[in-house]
Amino acid sequence: MAGKKVAVLIGSESDLAVITAALEQLAKFGIAYDLHVLSAHRSPDAVAAFAERAEGEGIEAIIAGAGKAAHLAGVIASKTVLPVIGVPMETNLAGGLDSLLSMVQMPQGVPVATMGTGKSGAMNAAILAAQILARSDPALRQRLVDFKAEMAAKVVAASEDLRKRLGLTPGS
Ligand code: RP5
Repeated sequence: MAGKKVAVLIGSESDLAVITAALEQLAKFGIAYDLHVLSAHRSPDAVAAFAERAEGEGIEAIIAGAGKAAHLAGVIASKTVLPVIGVPMETNLAGGLDSLLSMVQMPQGVPVATMGTGKSGAMNAAILAAQILARSDPALRQRLVDFKAEMAAKVVAASEDLRKRLGLTPGS
């Protein structure tokens, strides 16, 4: 795991399609990551073992995606002082409300930085992990600044394009 500062965990291989949004965003920032399938319910011993060794292996942030009674992020957070970012998977129950509440409603003392559900949440998890790493990485910090500037420029361009299509006066 040498050189990899972000660990991405999923509760099942069935979560891969969603968490790929996080992997792609990490790659765009040039952040090396590791990925494991670990289930709080189906492989609890492996979850505990990972949480106990992650910091010693150089991991600085953990992203954990899981669905339904989604305890993976919380169980990991219970056994490490690393920041844990949770990504609740969408489910058939109110779009993933079960996953969201399982992650966000952590008891006092054991925080999980819970993102929104699905691919947006996965992408935001990667950005938050990058922001954590950027505190000690000026080049990564600059990539985040550029990322925000690009987003802003796209909104300005979209607005200008829309106004042109609607025949609105420039600047009005
Ligand atoms: C959770 O149960 C996983 O994170 C997944 O989102 C959900 C369903 O898992 P599978 O039955 O598809 O393996 O542990």
